Amino acid sequence: MKSFTEIKETLKEYQAGYLLNFYEELSEEERENFMEQIEKIDFAYMKELYESVKNGVTFETGEKEISPITAFDKTKLSGEEYQRLNILGESLIKDGKLAVCSMAGGQGTRLGYNGPKGTFMLDLDGKPTSIFETIIHKLKMAYEAFGVHIYWYVMTSRQNHAVTVKFFKDNNYFGYDKNYILFFEQGELPLIDKSGKVVMKDKSHIFMAPDGNGGIFKALEDKKILNHMREHGIEYLAVGNVDNILINMVDPVTVAVMKENQSEALSKVFMKPSPEGKWGVFCKIDGIPHVIEYSETPKELLEARNEAGELIYGDVHFGCNFFHINLLNRIASEKLPMHAASKKNKFLAENGAEKEEEVYKFEAFIFDAFTMANNLIVCRVKREEEFAPIKNKEGDESPETALELYKKFYHQ
Ligand code: UTP
Repeated sequence: MKSFTEIKETLKEYQAGYLLNFYEELSEEERENFMEQIEKIDFAYMKELYESVKNGVTFETGEKEISPITAFDKTKLSGEEYQRLNILGESLIKDGKLAVCSMAGGQGTRLGYNGPKGTFMLDLDGKPTSIFETIIHKLKMAYEAFGVHIYWYVMTSRQNHAVTVKFFKDNNYFGYDKNYILFFEQGELPLIDKSGKVVMKDKSHIFMAPDGNGGIFKALEDKKILNHMREHGIEYLAVGNVDNILINMVDPVTVAVMKENQSEALSKVFMKPSPEGKWGVFCKIDGIPHVIEYSETPKELLEARNEAGELIYGDVHFGCNFFHINLLNRIASEKLPMHAASKKNKFLAENGAEKEEEVYKFEAFIFDAFTMANNLIVCRVKREEEFAPIKNKEGDESPETALELYKKFYHQ
């Protein structure tokens, strides 16, 4: 731990001395804790991030060449080919080569639920069931089918880690062997205001937020999950959004396709029927695979169709991705690009008053890792079988619509 004088020096260097404005008012314990928070901040990096938003270093499609990407269509495999791949994938799973990981560190702002999203309760045929439990169901089904326990890594954030772990403990891990469920916390970054200053939540806390689902790669390394994978001979990691209750991470065919193509990453997609859906879609930018956000996609690309009438840029990234350990090893130490979001937030002003203003939050996105993968496969699956997201309180992508999709799939 750095000395108080050293910390003060750093703060001075980055014009952040105001962070100590209320230091004298804090208790001994609060002071110690506050110093630890400050010590974790990489001020040089925050300055770099601020410069990048200030100078408008954003993605501009205008100067780049955008071209379509060819997807592997799992929905069109012949029965025979499907069987062959399924057998290969099953043998890999039985050999313990696959683990799954749920990204559950998000803040779930749109859902407006006061707790980790995975603990959100749904009414499944009259039985209250949490989102986490829907994943346990699938892992248990896999155990019945393949006779092995699949490791499940659950990514949390500092804000929801303890509650998440307690939830599993209180529910006796929903009957799954607890030795096969590992929790790990993702990183976080401070919010900064429009002049680049790190923002305080209150007198003894820096205002921090999780560093985005792309923070997973660094967290896997920092929290020794990659070590765990290496030690257990796990080669493939399926990573899914926690809020999709039809997510299919234990998918033998997918693993087999990666193995046969020596692919380091596979991303499941579904074809959107019309240009409107506000999801990110796959394309190539200057020849390199990318997911391009709806808001950044030029209208003519959104609407472009091929001779068969399908959208050319219609392969939706929906947060179900598979990574080979070689890629995970390589990108653990890489810095993914950060995306800034500007949102109104209440925080503590330098004079101790409460302030409400737009501040920047920085997040890494998991799909930016695809640019670094050898042989990325974009794999088309059936939307109705694998996609039932819970994002909003009501309307589209709400618990109600997700449940309808879930029931339709399981009761058809
Ligand atoms: P979203 O981008 O939809 O974010 O996350 P969210 O936090 O769930 O919801 P909003 O935007 O605040 O309303 C997609 C997936 O990535 C995870 C989420 O938990 C979800 O499974 N995620 C997101 C993280 O694990 N960490 C993050 O920092 C952000």
